[in-house]
Amino acid sequence: MRKNIVAGNWKMNKTLQEGIELAKELNTVLATDKPKCDVVICTPFIHLASVTPIVDKAIIGVGAENCADKESGAYTGEVSAAMVASTGAQYVILGHSERRAYYHETPEILKEKVRLALANGLTPIFCIGEVKEERLENRQNEVVRAQIEGSLFDLTAEEFSKIVLAYEPVWAIGTGLTATPEQAQEMHAFIRSVLAGKWGKEVADNTSILYGGSCKPSNAKELFANPDVDGGLIGGASLKAADFKGIIDAFA
Ligand code: PGA
Repeated sequence: MRKNIVAGNWKMNKTLQEGIELAKELNTVLATDKPKCDVVICTPFIHLASVTPIVDKAIIGVGAENCADKESGAYTGEVSAAMVASTGAQYVILGHSERRAYYHETPEILKEKVRLALANGLTPIFCIGEVKEERLENRQNEVVRAQIEGSLFDLTAEEFSKIVLAYEPVWAIGTGLTATPEQAQEMHAFIRSVLAGKWGKEVADNTSILYGGSCKPSNAKELFANPDVDGGLIGGASLKAADFKGIIDAFA
């Protein structure tokens, strides 16, 4: 069956020293009070090699926030999926709305990133979600379907089964505006129906679909209580061990 996962997305926050401190703190807190779900922290590239040996692998997985759409070579400033994997990281966030919006990542580019992540044994946490205007026009389902089709529909069922999805309505990210539990459940059920249509019910049922967007200790429980919401992708509230732990504790 699918796993419940709480994943942190540190974004462009924390110096190396601060990141190491946070990882250590989290490791200690979760070692004494074991989580009832999988826990992942996705950090800036430069933190990965220092953070992976600090955390207990049995409790905390580590991931990158992005990787290159090329295998290797003359791409100044880029970091490949193989490099991410060589740090001991097991996950990579792909298709985050900030990458799509600010760095012009298209479905085709993301398709390559997913391919390379899988080829290097990384688990992609693939983000999808509509912007505010699209929701106001009631186009969220068609937008999310197109994002899945555009980057993932080339995958076989076996390949797709290695992917974690994160539904992140863009209007809820970093805004304090959380989707209601009903809105989240409705979309997650829709996403699962898209997966079932393409790869079959078993694959759909086994896919972890996380919710992201202003998720915090005070609202995590009611969001995660929905049958199709399998945890969260957490930005702001993953930057403090106590807040992140508060969200993890939603799976009591
Ligand atoms: P937020 O970010 O929790 O700060 O809204 C979520 C995300 O962007 O993954």
